[in-house]
Amino acid sequence: MARKLVVAIDGPAGAGKSTVAQLAAKELGYTYIDTGAMYRAVAWKAIKAGRPVTDEQILAAVSDIAVRLHYDGKVTQVFVDDEEVTGEIRTPEVSAVVSQVARLGPVREKMVEQQRHMAEAGGVLMDGRDIATHVLPSADVKIFLTASLEERAKRRWKEMREKGYDMTLEELEADIMRRDKADSEREISPLVQAADAELLDTTGMDIAAVVRAIVERCGR
Ligand code: CDP
Repeated sequence: MARKLVVAIDGPAGAGKSTVAQLAAKELGYTYIDTGAMYRAVAWKAIKAGRPVTDEQILAAVSDIAVRLHYDGKVTQVFVDDEEVTGEIRTPEVSAVVSQVARLGPVREKMVEQQRHMAEAGGVLMDGRDIATHVLPSADVKIFLTASLEERAKRRWKEMREKGYDMTLEELEADIMRRDKADSEREISPLVQAADAELLDTTGMDIAAVVRAIVERCGR
């Protein structure tokens, strides 16, 4: 049997990471770890304490949070303090505050520690913003997944429409731009392509083609 690798996939908002990473993990027989879901889980808990969300609220939420990801080989279920929040963390409300949450040191420290622990056994595919640069710098395969802003906004628009949200393409483009800027300019572990990561621009590629490209880079 082929050696079980550690695969790191990073990239900006709406690049389709979770969709393709989940499918690629399934094909490789690896565990999929969606680190964005973990930051979204913290944001979800902070919002529960009321809006507007303050840094104090976020730090209180993370101080005793238990985030659990359950990947069954197909989909990832997300639990916060044993409550299932899989659908609730992908709302525009959570997207609006998640970058504010993800810039705080105590939040990142707690999530990164858990992410490294989950990757210890190998045979994992982890996606996020700082996986190749910070969480798993010695990963066997590093991919920076991106697509044009227009295409990323369109993909997110289709996803939101399927979920019943009535958002315009312009609104989604603005959300993506704002989040990319915040994620790239923050002080701790900003979003940046690792020097040793391979760029995979998925503009114009369908899901199956992107999955194939990832699996090929894992030597299969
Ligand atoms: O799915 P989408 O591209 O909208 O984003 P996500 O992967 O669910 O990540 C949501 C947010 O979490 C990002 O905008 C970042 O602010 C933060 N994040 C991070 O800081 N570090 C990671 N490793 C993953 C996500």
